[in-house]
Amino acid sequence: MSHPFQFFGEWVGFLSSALPEPWPVCVPNWTPCGAIVLFVSQSFVFNLKALGPKCGIVQALPAPRLPNFKNSYNHSMRVTVGVSGGIAAYKAAELVRVLERQGVEVHVVMTESACRFVQPLTFAALSGHRVITSLWDEAGVSDGASDSSIEHIAEAQWADALIVAPATANILAKFAHGIADDFLTTLYLATQSPVLVAPAMNVNMWEHPATQANLEILRQRGVRMLEPGSGELACGVVGKGRMAEPEAIAQAVMGILGRRHDLAGEVVLVTAGGTREALDPVRYIGNRSSGKMGYALAEAAQSRGAKVILVSGPSALHPPAHCELIKVTTSGEMREAVLERVAEATLVVKAAAVADYRPVSVSEQKLKRSGPLVLELAPTEDILAEVARRRRPGQLIVGFAAETENRMENGRAKLLRKGVDAIVVNDVAKVGLGFDSDFNAATFLTAATAIEMPEMPKRELADRILDEILTLRRPRSVVVELDEDEDDDEKFRQDQVLGETVQPASARRQLIVE
Ligand SMILES: Cc1cc2nc3c(=O)[nH]c(=O)nc-3n(C[C@H](O)[C@H](O)[C@H](O)COP(=O)(O)O)c2cc1C
Repeated sequence: MSHPFQFFGEWVGFLSSALPEPWPVCVPNWTPCGAIVLFVSQSFVFNLKALGPKCGIVQALPAPRLPNFKNSYNHSMRVTVGVSGGIAAYKAAELVRVLERQGVEVHVVMTESACRFVQPLTFAALSGHRVITSLWDEAGVSDGASDSSIEHIAEAQWADALIVAPATANILAKFAHGIADDFLTTLYLATQSPVLVAPAMNVNMWEHPATQANLEILRQRGVRMLEPGSGELACGVVGKGRMAEPEAIAQAVMGILGRRHDLAGEVVLVTAGGTREALDPVRYIGNRSSGKMGYALAEAAQSRGAKVILVSGPSALHPPAHCELIKVTTSGEMREAVLERVAEATLVVKAAAVADYRPVSVSEQKLKRSGPLVLELAPTEDILAEVARRRRPGQLIVGFAAETENRMENGRAKLLRKGVDAIVVNDVAKVGLGFDSDFNAATFLTAATAIEMPEMPKRELADRILDEILTLRRPRSVVVELDEDEDDDEKFRQDQVLGETVQPASARRQLIVE
């Protein structure tokens, strides 16, 4: 049951968010009638505003937790909303409301600048929790009223996700460069939970190469991003920079939380990137793999609770946070690293583009141009097949196939030849997809199904692939599709026809275990 005064508290709290400048509130005591006190005191402020002079600034709330403003929480879903100092800070109040309506428990952390746009009290009233605005209290220690004296660490452990909305150019730059000079930036470094940012700023700030470079760094580290929309900005300019709507942000958050921890307890070994086979001291035979798909898989698995071992060929990417990274160069080194660690893994995803051939001999000196040169190449070891041969009970093995023709036939042949559980087939001949692109499309092939995954960002595709891999965990099962557009009889359609192509099933698939 809601507190009878909850509505008033929320209404006033929400109104206050529309007030741009600091404004005075007296909060004498947080009693069970706190909503009334809040209402009266803020009405008082409206009168003061009408009279003109400002009387003071709201100070930190005395109590660590506000009384019964909120309904019961679903404690399995906890989100910290970070608010940084942009005009769109007022929209964060609506975000908190939407999240709470979905049963999420919300803590709010504000930067010093954010407090100039919206009062912490607004978020305290909406979330039912004290708002964290500083690393320090007046005594010079954490101002936390949480159990831990190191409050940013406690907060980092508490939250299932950190959402920063709005994310200023400044906060994005600090995140990208590891600057930790306030609570929010320190929390960002300390958390191992998924991070989602909703940038909002003037279009020129958004388009500035510095901002774009920072965004790229964060994307590569697995920070989820809700791109700002275009339109008339608060500064009067038309362009890109409007923060995503709170409903859209909340929806993205629910997507993250829904998948949270479904890989807990798994040890995922991911291979990524291409390998290099030396010809001489300066040249090598390589391929165009950037490592983006493998790194996205590693990041996705980690954020879903898995322990991740990432074996990577040379790559310009920043390694995903909190994954164990093993760097290799040649296919031989890749094989050695994989075989050394594979026994630990419950799931192996081999996304690396490993050389099929290596030079029979490597010149000790740099090769000089002296007419035609014929290279003799020898096949490399088949790591995927070797891993499948050594498979231990319960271990799932998924390979990747980059195909330029006859995708399905070649993919299925590879699946059967190697004895793996699934093959993710990429059509690398498509322009703008696959190698070195941020986007990809794939077909997830098992012995019984072929699931089309249309073009999407690699990070999203990584989650789709993991969703499908998880369905393989279930013992002898029948997979049925629930499709609202079809007749009732058609809704329960067995997805067992060899070679049949169906839509991505993650969201609407139901498993009936025999
Ligand atoms: C009126 C006003 C509006 C601002 N709006 C934005 C904004 O929408 N986005 C942004 O990135 N910075 C904006 N800024 C600049 C930030 O407030 C400034 O960079 C600040 O240092 C951000 O601090 P924070 O990232 O710690 O919150 C604005 C500044 C002012 C004075």
